[in-house]
Amino acid sequence: MAYENILFEVKDGVGVLTFNRPKALNALNPATIEEISDVIDRVRKDDSVRVLVLTGAGEKAFVAGADITQFPKMNPLEARAFAERGQDVFARLEQLPKPVIACCNGFTLGGGCELAMSCDFIYASDKARFGQPEINLGIIPGFGGTQRLSRLVGRARAKELCMTGEMIDAQRAREIGLVAKVFPADQLLDETLKVASQLAAKSLVALRTIKLVVDRGADVDLKSGCAIEAEAFGASFASQDAREGVAAFLEKRKPEFKGSLTS
Ligand code: COA
Repeated sequence: MAYENILFEVKDGVGVLTFNRPKALNALNPATIEEISDVIDRVRKDDSVRVLVLTGAGEKAFVAGADITQFPKMNPLEARAFAERGQDVFARLEQLPKPVIACCNGFTLGGGCELAMSCDFIYASDKARFGQPEINLGIIPGFGGTQRLSRLVGRARAKELCMTGEMIDAQRAREIGLVAKVFPADQLLDETLKVASQLAAKSLVALRTIKLVVDRGADVDLKSGCAIEAEAFGASFASQDAREGVAAFLEKRKPEFKGSLTS
């Protein structure tokens, strides 16, 4: 698939998807959502991509939401279908069995915030702004925002953000647990890629298992979550990476993790 709205490149095990509609502050139109979907399929199948990073082109925005210019022509059924398609693609991103980092370089609003929350964690520039401003258009978030935001920052804060449509800065987003780390704008991408490279050198099998266990555990009680963890801990001992990691420690050398998810 040829991309018109995004760029995608892979270097040393790290795939970087860049939203590339800077004139519309990288807003998500339906075509962009299909392009994201295509990248997800590629990354899922190709183990030479071990980590995925999402970022925005230009100085101003990660993604400033869904593309509002398409809204006037949408009827309620089309709007619901648009929300369901976005939710489906973001869920597949969330379930990608590899680490996904949102590198939020500017406005991260509406669908942009919902997209970032579907990643494993968010790194932000000190210039980034976060929010769910749909209320100001007389509508509500539709790509999982009401659900993921409340799970990340608590129901009261989620309701406050969705009801006021307020934009918060990166520091505040870090304080409430939405953002993991904040970097100066000119260092954000390098710092994110540094962490992505570190993850790319780790065991893909173990990374996948951490992601699965944390996400499955979030939906169940503590006892059931710990049972899932114990099962997965046991299973992790069967991997070639586990043998390599433990042997490397005992032999006082760096491990070389070669485990693949596809073979
Ligand atoms: N959809 C479509 N176009 C968008 C957009 C969106 N979500 N967000 C920004 N743009 C466009 C603007 O219309 C403008 O286009 P123009 O130059 O053709 O007029 C361009 O991007 C630059 O945006 P502008 O509003 O001029 O920049 P700003 O710095 O003054 O304000 C924002 C930035 C993010 C505060 C403002 O653009 C905004 O509120 N965007 C909408 C955010 C939103 O409601 N998202 C949720 C959608 S459901």
